[in-house]
Amino acid sequence: MKNNMKRTRTLRPWWESAAAYQIYPRSFKDSNGDGVGDLQGIISKLPYLSELGIDLIWICPIYTSPNDDNGYDISDYQNIQREYGTMEDFEELLHKAHERGIRVIMDLVINHTSSSHPWFIESRSSIHNSKRDWYIWKDGKDNKEPNNWESIFGGSAWEYDEKTGQYFLHVFGKTMPDINWENTQVKRAIFDMICWWLDKGIDGFRVDAISHIKKPDFNDMPNPKNERYVSSFDKHMNQPGIMDLLRELKENTFSKYDIFTVAEANGARIEEIDEWVSQEKGIFHSLFQFDHLNLWNVESEEGKISIKKLKSALTRWQKAVSADGNVALVMENHDLVRSVSRFGSPDKYWKESAKCLALMYYMQKGVPFIYQGQELGMLNADYNSHLDFRDAPTLFGYQERINKGMSPEESLEVLKKSTRDNSRTPMQWDDSPHGGFTTGTPWIKVNQNYHWLNAKAQIKDEDSILNFYKKIIKIKKETVGLIYGDYELLMEESENVYAYTRTYEDKTYLIVCNISEENSQLEVDLDITKADILISNYADINSNEKVLRPFECRLYSL
Ligand code: GLC
Ligand code: CA
Repeated sequence: MKNNMKRTRTLRPWWESAAAYQIYPRSFKDSNGDGVGDLQGIISKLPYLSELGIDLIWICPIYTSPNDDNGYDISDYQNIQREYGTMEDFEELLHKAHERGIRVIMDLVINHTSSSHPWFIESRSSIHNSKRDWYIWKDGKDNKEPNNWESIFGGSAWEYDEKTGQYFLHVFGKTMPDINWENTQVKRAIFDMICWWLDKGIDGFRVDAISHIKKPDFNDMPNPKNERYVSSFDKHMNQPGIMDLLRELKENTFSKYDIFTVAEANGARIEEIDEWVSQEKGIFHSLFQFDHLNLWNVESEEGKISIKKLKSALTRWQKAVSADGNVALVMENHDLVRSVSRFGSPDKYWKESAKCLALMYYMQKGVPFIYQGQELGMLNADYNSHLDFRDAPTLFGYQERINKGMSPEESLEVLKKSTRDNSRTPMQWDDSPHGGFTTGTPWIKVNQNYHWLNAKAQIKDEDSILNFYKKIIKIKKETVGLIYGDYELLMEESENVYAYTRTYEDKTYLIVCNISEENSQLEVDLDITKADILISNYADINSNEKVLRPFECRLYSL
């Protein structure tokens, strides 16, 4: 193995105390003025990441792709998307990151390929082609799709192929055919590709949409509302038999390397957490779960957030991770809206709320991920026209709503709140045109608040959100109790205050966050009179004060 970075002094694996950072390459930093972020752009920002204290980066897909889903539709796994640079650029990035002690994990998209992948082109060429069975082909039923499943991107999950007269399955977009994980040859090809990357010395993978690889029976979904297509999300997520496939994946690839893997595991059940992530017998080292971010879990029908529900969703997972298990800590990514816009107070208490949310999730047990721009408190896009949208399912959804009779204004309003473009606007580096992201025309419009909300301004400001992140990253890495300690929720019934402890051996830390615009009362049975406050987002702080001001947060060492 070429990866010869030093292990940390403890015997525990390095990634348990790692500070991770997610890069969406298209929107991170453009080095050549074509309006698209690229690998040289990332290289130029490595010093920024080092300064922040990052030691692991996850880069969203950079492989060759027609870009229907910004790289999640891969047409060549072993090449770099031309817009992003070359394989030499990638190797340079890997080398320079390693020199700084930053590890690099890639996005591994193996539930589907692009329909432009040579495997699929062969597969669709004839019913008798040797790769026909590498994807999922079915005959239609009564001149219609094989069943009523809806794709996650909207419309049918089946696409008709004129030439061979059959339909292929695509759980996501229609140019993203699902791979047939029951076929031994395609699995072999995937395993070889994975080992090829690992032999290059990368440090692991974030494994995309992996809970979808096992397909269930192909029966219709129940259809009480008599819809044309029925959401089938639950149907092809975490199906019985998936563990056999995952074990095979691990044995043939990951287990042979000293790496870090984190699964995007929508639908993984808490009761099965050990099978997914314990070091002893799990498949992955860590997993992303989104219970606390799924709107049906934390929002009322009017879209009102319940902090109590947020706490309970997070607590369920915190309590479930076994001593050697792990979950990834996440508040934002490229599929979600900005957390300050959603849970914070973007206008009134922008700075306070960004810091409060940061402390709230960062001190929990697991590998914390920061999504680019989150460390600046970046906010949702401020788009006023559907022409600003770039995301394929958003554009599809816009058209669908209009077809169904919704007005363009209303469709825009609905989608503005949820579009994935909210987190995909370019990184705001400084107050030069387009936030210093590009000297050209950006592929997606920059949020106009870059004039005051940018990295350059925050580097200089001791009290900035960026400098707060820098401090909490350092505190967490240096504090054993905050890495390994047990989690306990306090003030369970409070609608505003999220308070919890982390305890390791005889040392306890208390984290309190008032996630609200009102003053709230701190009510815990712990003696905080003599406790030290390691960090807070208000300056004039008295550790004994029981009134928490709007979005006030404190980290106590008891
Ligand atoms: C994951 C990615 C998302 C992508 C989808 C299909 O959920 O995070 O961006 O659209 O998989 O690959
Ligand atoms: Ca570029």
